[in-house]
Amino acid sequence: MPTSSHHKARRAEFLAAIEQPVLLMAGGWISRNYPANWSPFRADSTFLFFFPQAEPNAAALFDPKDKSVTLFLDERTQADALWHGPVQSFADLKKAFGVTAVEKRAELAKLVGKQIGKRTVRTLAIADPRATAEACSITGERLDFFTAKDLGDPALLQTIARLRNHKQEPELAEMRAAAAVTREAHTLAMARTRAGIREQELVGHVEGTFARHGCVPAYNTILSVRGEVLHNHAHDNLLLEGDLVLLDAGAERPSGYCADVTRAWPVNGHFGPEARDIYDIVLAAEKAAIASVKPGMRYRDVHMLAARVLTDGLVQLGLMHGDADALVENGAHAMFFPHGTGHLLGLDVHDLEAFGDAIAYAPGRTRSPQFGTGYLRLDLDLQPGMCVTIEPGIYFVPAILHDAKFRKQFKGQVDFQRAEQFLTMNSGRGFGGIRIEDDVLCTKTGHEVLSAAVPKERLAIEALVGSAGG
Ligand code: GLY
Ligand code: MN
Ligand code: MN
Repeated sequence: MPTSSHHKARRAEFLAAIEQPVLLMAGGWISRNYPANWSPFRADSTFLFFFPQAEPNAAALFDPKDKSVTLFLDERTQADALWHGPVQSFADLKKAFGVTAVEKRAELAKLVGKQIGKRTVRTLAIADPRATAEACSITGERLDFFTAKDLGDPALLQTIARLRNHKQEPELAEMRAAAAVTREAHTLAMARTRAGIREQELVGHVEGTFARHGCVPAYNTILSVRGEVLHNHAHDNLLLEGDLVLLDAGAERPSGYCADVTRAWPVNGHFGPEARDIYDIVLAAEKAAIASVKPGMRYRDVHMLAARVLTDGLVQLGLMHGDADALVENGAHAMFFPHGTGHLLGLDVHDLEAFGDAIAYAPGRTRSPQFGTGYLRLDLDLQPGMCVTIEPGIYFVPAILHDAKFRKQFKGQVDFQRAEQFLTMNSGRGFGGIRIEDDVLCTKTGHEVLSAAVPKERLAIEALVGSAGG
């Protein structure tokens, strides 16, 4: 876990970069149903970036004028100790965190008002609407987390993004640790795969592995024989002979740093001819895209490279016709690869996605109007310290391949008849989809694949699938 000295240095960097005071909120408990039955607490990621082990309701005022950081925490009560165990005193926490002061959370508005006087103070919208509303009532801003528009002062968002996007060694150690747990989860799911069980049994192995290591799923686990449903969160299908399992799951460490990894494998442990061909194309695209990661590389070009390699392979298989460059320019590849190649990764699985495209797209760049490429979540020039995912895939989606508008638009470029064979194979259940996803750090000289230990060579996967027996 990043140490508090790391966090202290990060807070000092932030204080040096801001001109006005900033109030950050951790967020509080969210109830599952009745008020005292809470969902697991997860502090806002920017708060976690500055304070390890952030507790519910915590808030912090950063004041560049006197370089002070004041932490606001709920008062310690006997009831806390009774129901939730011993709690550290404010004095202990002031020392442990190395902050200027720890104050009572109940006095947040009063004390912030006193400290800032007539100066402007800024905050950030976070996922907890009550915390956002409370912070806005103090700063006078009107922010809305859910519109991805009014998240906070644009210059403040840029400052935070710049810091969060340059991962330092303690953060990378956390991400490598999350990737190691994720490797164990994926290999266990492969080993436990056999026809006749339900998807949820494998989900249990995946999430049980996370729990055994003190981790939680960084996002809702996707484990499905219907891999063509990109974010499929239902887990009640039976695994049948001929099906492919797609697992997209990543562990999140107690520090908040996470992994995001996808693998696909055949239920019976042997890639059939079509699955082998498609798998090899996706793997070639993924490897080519990873190989291109280096400082200065534009992420959109990484995406386009992946799309071109996929398209080349699909032309060779007879699923597309024509010149790969021209097909990609037209957007024809999106009939099989309808999403972007990846996103930033860190404390959020789609790191900083809540800050919107003003952060994820470099100035002057906007989303493509084209179907498929329009889903590209990132278009920055990569810099050392940035972590991204690389996750191309090929999917046979009836809703796309049967769409009359697309069939007309890509007539002669996409072989819809050949695609139909994939949609109807496997006793009518269809091919499904294959995605391969790794977590990649841009380094000074190129890249490091944080999730490299998760098997992805076809033979290695075949050897693992079903190896745990009944
Ligand atoms: N796990 C969601 C994604 O890969 O983006
Ligand atoms: Mn991803
Ligand atoms: Mn994923």
